[in-house]
Amino acid sequence: MGKFDMLITGIGRMVTPPGNSPRFGAEMKEVREIVDAAVAIRDGRIALFGAEQDVRGALAGADIVQSLDVGGRMVTPGLVDPHTHLVHGGSREHELALKRAGVPYLDILAQGGGILSTVKRTRAASEEALYEKARRSLSEMLLNGVTTVEAKSGYGLALEDELKQLRVAKRLNETHPIDIVSTFMGAHAVPPEFKGRSDAFVELIVTEMLPRVAQEGLAEFCDVFCEQGVFSIEQSREILLAGKRCGLRPKIHADEIVPLGGAELSAEVGAISAEHLLAATDDGLAALAARGVVPVLLPGTSFNLGLSRHARARDMIDKYALPVALSTDYNPGSCPTESIQLIIMLASLNLKMTPEEILTACTLNAANALDRGADIGSIEIGKRADLTVFNAPNLAYLPYHFGVNHTYGVIKNGHVAVW
Ligand code: NIG
Ligand code: FE
Repeated sequence: MGKFDMLITGIGRMVTPPGNSPRFGAEMKEVREIVDAAVAIRDGRIALFGAEQDVRGALAGADIVQSLDVGGRMVTPGLVDPHTHLVHGGSREHELALKRAGVPYLDILAQGGGILSTVKRTRAASEEALYEKARRSLSEMLLNGVTTVEAKSGYGLALEDELKQLRVAKRLNETHPIDIVSTFMGAHAVPPEFKGRSDAFVELIVTEMLPRVAQEGLAEFCDVFCEQGVFSIEQSREILLAGKRCGLRPKIHADEIVPLGGAELSAEVGAISAEHLLAATDDGLAALAARGVVPVLLPGTSFNLGLSRHARARDMIDKYALPVALSTDYNPGSCPTESIQLIIMLASLNLKMTPEEILTACTLNAANALDRGADIGSIEIGKRADLTVFNAPNLAYLPYHFGVNHTYGVIKNGHVAVW
């Protein structure tokens, strides 16, 4: 039978979506539940799981290095946060009054604030300062039960400053328990030195930034803020296709405020995911369905911007059978929170998703939005032993009892990361 690094017992309820593939529409609510379960871990991967009695029987006589009793609590796959702007300088509480006075997000940006105010702070910050700030945020996420995080650049908007952000993400991936997946988002805003010359900035991204990012192996995906007054459909297409030629898979901030056709573009360029989608049209959603694009919904953003409009999660699931994923969109402007558990509550309240759908959206579908479905996002033999232990009796308890952190412990790559 051999040696096992860890045996986790006393799992009151183990809940996971099954398999590795994205879960589409109605499949999202079909989670696997095992009562009184156990998991055995070897070499950082799940070696065995099932009813505790069966697992104990199968392990009889085996050498078990560490045993962990979770005291009847609930265990899920480690949560995956597939859309964050993790690395940035400063904060934007000075814009709170403007936001509360109803000044629209894009107006603040057009006045040189918003993303551009964070660009100033990020350019001025040392790599060390960025690292330290992002490290704290990551630790907050880990305490929330998150084990993999996507991190976008996009507050440098100049080659060296974009590389600085991406290098910080790379270093954090090496030093912090959380795994980081990097996305290059040089097309997040038009920097002041290119004001009124956005085509020239697109040219710079395509000819200089993308090849260098790819050459240094600093990102896996390329994202664009495709929005009225930011990057047009044509500019977004040009950047995403150039990214593809460099080996970076497209992602798009699509149809967040205006229905520009970002959803349709994501299908056209073969994006792995399309994010936000508050204003996406029926044609846009049908296009996502036709090409298997993962919609990543960010209910914290509409909540924080005080919008009454929300992404049409029910239509996406019931009508278009899309594999919906959820994320924090952690960033200093539209969504300054690291709390995926707040997002879980908002997905229930405003997106009307069920607890089972929410779990699938925060685990397996989120993993598939990062091309990691074979490695993380569900409890399956051979997958990474990334597990979150919740001090909760069942899934519905998470959105029900809100405003507190339910995480009791986190196992990352088979090691205790939080207890
Ligand atoms: O996903 N929409 C554009 N980008 C971010 C916000 C970034 C910021 O305001 O700093 C988002 O919401
Ligand atoms: Fe974002």
